[in-house]
Parts: sequence; structure tokens; C-alpha cells
Amino acid sequence: MTQDELKELVGKEAVKFIDDGMVVGLGTGSTVKFMVDALGERVKNEGIKITGVPTSDRTAKQARSLGITVKGVDEVDHIDLTIDGADEISSDFQGIKGGGAAHLFEKIVAINSSKVMWIVDESKMVDSLGKFPLPLEVIPYGSGQLFKKLEAKGLHPEFRMTKDGNNVLTDSKNYVIDLHTGKIDNPHELADYLIQQVGVVEQGLFLDMVNTVIVGRSNGPEVLQ
Ligand code: 5RP
Repeated sequence: MTQDELKELVGKEAVKFIDDGMVVGLGTGSTVKFMVDALGERVKNEGIKITGVPTSDRTAKQARSLGITVKGVDEVDHIDLTIDGADEISSDFQGIKGGGAAHLFEKIVAINSSKVMWIVDESKMVDSLGKFPLPLEVIPYGSGQLFKKLEAKGLHPEFRMTKDGNNVLTDSKNYVIDLHTGKIDNPHELADYLIQQVGVVEQGLFLDMVNTVIVGRSNGPEVLQ
């Protein structure tokens, strides 16, 4: 199976965990796109009523176009389940997210959810984190100085740029710096250091926050809890 087929597989599997009436956090990315399509099918064919809390403008637009009711994170009093993708998941279920530059809103929705599920193709499962560059969302003002500090710390930063040579902007109009850290031996220590740096709005380590992972494998979806 191709990577896209595995993403579609887990997207379809994930929506089986959604019940009528639920408030569901909707992540961002190509895997989530398949999941939102599958949710749209359920809304259309089964008439289930779902409130979606999207984590990006992209996901909000897609969900609305499929007839899914969309509310902002501050318009709901709870979120039952958030379903999101991930860039890397280690064997102890820690994750790196933000490949789609949405990790700030994704983390806000995740920490306000009763349960969090990640859906990934099998290439995302790793022994330890750090091969995928770790994204930081940073305030543009002073980001050059912050960059130098991260460089001096040996974290190998790189501004994420568009094809036209402009800084990638998040939905909050911030910049993204990717850290080419290599193997991360102590994710909690690194997360603490990064979030203490002035100008860092959020970092992409998602630690101790997932309840269920669905892994797309050629022989079918594997549900890990
Ligand atoms: C966006 C994310 C995505 O969940 C992550 O990048 C995975 O994306 P994809 O499903 O396209 O591989 O964190 O900020």
C-alpha cells in the first residue's frame, strides 16, 4: 500500500470511534484530511450530529464544506475526543508535531480534550524522537536573535521558508523555526528549555498527551492504547 493509502486507512478507522453528539477536535495535515472526509461521509449518510473544533483554517474550511458543524475552541464547554496526525511517535508514545505549522492550535485543542488519538502511517513510528526536525512557532520580532541563541545551543535551527523565499506564516502570523536536533535523549528537558525561551510561542514536542494511536500497516490498522 502507498503512504496515502495507509493514511486513508487510519482516517477511516478513526471515525469509528466517534459517536453521535460528540464534540471532536479536528487536527491538521494530510492524514487528518482523509479522516475529515470520512467524518463528512458519516454526517451525510448516517445523519449523526458532530461539532468539530478545527485546529487550522485549512481544516475548518474542509469540515464546513462537508456539512460538519464547526465551533472555535472557546465556543465549546468540552471536547470529547481530538483526532490528529503526527510527524513522529516514539515507542513510549511521545510525539513530534508541527510539520504542517499548526502545532500551537493543535496543542491547545489537545490539552482541552478528554481523549487524544493520533493517526499515522507506519513510517511515523520510531524508536526515539529527533530524526524529524522539531518545529517551533516563534514571534517574528527578535526571531533572528532567538535563532542565534538556538544555534549556539547546538540545536541546528532553520527558518521554514516558502518556495518564494518568504517565511512560512502560521495561522497566528508567526514564523516557524525547525530544529535539526538529531536523536532527542530527554524530550522533557528539551521541551522545558525551549518553552522558556522568550519569543517561542509553542514547541512541537507533544509529551504525555495521547491515549490512542492508530497505525496504518499494509495488513490493516493497528490500534494501540
Ligand atoms: C500539523 C501536524 C500534522 O499532524 C503532522 O505534520 C502530520 O501531517 P501529515 O498527516 O500530513 O503527515 O502536526 O502541524
